[in-house]
Amino acid sequence: MALLEISGLTKRFGGLSAVDDLNFSVKQGELLSIIGPNGAGKTTLFNLMTGFYKPTSGKIIFKEKDITRSKPHQVTRSGISRTFQMTSIYSQTTVLENLVIGQALHAKSGLCSSIIGFPSANRERKKIQDKAEEILSFVGLEDKRDKSAAGLTEEAQKRLSIGLALSTEPELLLLDEPTGGVNMEEISGLIDLVDKIRQLNITICLIEHKMRMVMSISDRIIVLSYGKNIAEGTPDAVANNEEVIKAYLGERCVF
Ligand SMILES: Nc1ncnc2c1ncn2[C@@H]1O[C@H](COP(=O)(O)OP(=O)(O)OP(=O)(O)O)[C@@H](O)[C@H]1O
Ligand SMILES: [Mg+2]
Repeated sequence: MALLEISGLTKRFGGLSAVDDLNFSVKQGELLSIIGPNGAGKTTLFNLMTGFYKPTSGKIIFKEKDITRSKPHQVTRSGISRTFQMTSIYSQTTVLENLVIGQALHAKSGLCSSIIGFPSANRERKKIQDKAEEILSFVGLEDKRDKSAAGLTEEAQKRLSIGLALSTEPELLLLDEPTGGVNMEEISGLIDLVDKIRQLNITICLIEHKMRMVMSISDRIIVLSYGKNIAEGTPDAVANNEEVIKAYLGERCVF
């Protein structure tokens, strides 16, 4: 049984089918990339997988449980976490505080009781603090620990959003363009980070336009065009697929 099974998934906005009868599965431990031209439906697919959008039809099964109509926080609790295409961090706080808040929102006793200071909440707070420090170092932001998140470079913000997504301890991590807006020299550092996440045995779905990255780290690739799955296979098979090459003509995405 796959970790995630998607069948007949469709999302229509008025007359537009942003996601159109998609069928695919994600295996435990794999890195599956989802590529396709702008507007192909990639982010919409993530929004459906995480409960931000309700599908027009179709099913999403995660760990044999139907999460098709689950709300975002229920999806997170079940073990799926994501980053956003547009970075979403708490910009008025420090880098470390971001990671504390990210976890506290999912902690057992909740943020309010940790602030009030019940003994059990104190233990929880200590655990959260330690975990935040651990994630901070995992994503390589120790030196930015007490800096305001608003002042971070684009690349550091991407690292922080990945840290935030990791703070809910996902089994499946969805990354929406983790290198978007980041310069060429910094990309390899982010690729290394994605590799490190894989070594934690976290399954990853990656949306990316940077083909060099996609080709080098994916186990499998799914190509979307106008909401439909037009190709699926190993990086080599996809790069040589006629329909894929056609879909990309005139796009910024070249193999
Ligand atoms: N909330 C919405 N309301 C109406 N249309 C939407 C909405 N969200 C997405 N769309 C439309 O659905 C289509 C797919 O958009 P989506 O953002 O999923 O594409 P994408 O593959 O992520 O593109 P990009 O590579 O540019 O990020 C587009 O035509 C978009 O305009
Ligand atoms: Mg998108």
